[in-house]
Amino acid sequence: IGQHLYHYPQVESTQDIVHQLAKEGKPHGTVVIADEQVKGKGRMAREWHSPEGKGVWMSILLRPDLPPVQAPQLTLLTATVLANVMDKRSALVPSIKWPNDILVHHKKVAGILTEMQAEQDRIQYVVLGIGINVNQEDGEIPSMIAHKASSLKMESGEKWDIQEFVQSILSTFEKTYDSFIEEGFQEIKQEWERYGYKIGEKVTISTMRRDFKATLLGIEADGALLAKDEQGEMEKLYSAEIHWGE
Ligand code: BTN
Repeated sequence: IGQHLYHYPQVESTQDIVHQLAKEGKPHGTVVIADEQVKGKGRMAREWHSPEGKGVWMSILLRPDLPPVQAPQLTLLTATVLANVMDKRSALVPSIKWPNDILVHHKKVAGILTEMQAEQDRIQYVVLGIGINVNQEDGEIPSMIAHKASSLKMESGEKWDIQEFVQSILSTFEKTYDSFIEEGFQEIKQEWERYGYKIGEKVTISTMRRDFKATLLGIEADGALLAKDEQGEMEKLYSAEIHWGE
C-alpha cells in the first residue's frame, strides 16, 4: 500500500483521480493524496470540505479478490485502522459511529467513502476515500456543521504532522488489510466493537420505515448494525441514522 503514491497540491476530488488510475490498470495499493480538494465528496452526495493543508484527503485503490457483498467489510476495516492510529498517537479516545464516522468527544473528525466497481460476483476494484479533519482551528469548520464536526487539533489542542500521520495510517492499513485477507473478518469485528460508539447503549434509530428506541449490540460480518428494540426484537440494519440524547 502506498508504493505508488501520487501527491497533488490541489484536485477536485482524489476519488475521481483514483477511479481514473484504476481504469488505466494501476495496481492494488495505489494512493492519491491532495493538500486541497475543491470538490471533495462525502457520502450520500454530500460535500466534503477539504481546505488546503488542514487534513488528510486521500484515496486508496484496492483490488481485492472478493465478492461485492464483502465490500462493506473494507469500510469497517478502515474505520478501525483510523481509530487505532488516532488512539496510539494521542490521548484522544476515538470512537466509530456506525457505519464509518470517527468521532472524538461526540463530534465527527473523519469519514470514509467507499466506491466499488464490480462485475458479476467479483469486485473489480474499490476506491477507499479517507477524509480526516486534522489541523483546522476554531472557526474553520463550516458553521452549518460546527455543532457536530471538529478536528483533531481542536479536540487535542495540538497541531498534528500530517505527513507522519499519513505514513502511520498507510502502514497500519497494510498490516490490517493483510491479516483480514489471511484470517478473515472476525478480528476486525472485535476491534470495531471495541471502538463502537454507543455499543451496549440505548439510542433512537431512524429508518425509512420507522423511528424506534433500541440498544446497539454490534455489527455483523456483512456490515449490518445489530440492535435490539424495546420489545426485545432483534433488528439487522443496513441503512439507518442513529440519534442519541434528546
Ligand atoms: C463521509 O463521511 O461522508 C465520507 C467523507 C470522505 C471524504 C474523503 S476526502 C478524500 C476522498 N476524496 C473525496 O472527494 N472524498 C473522500
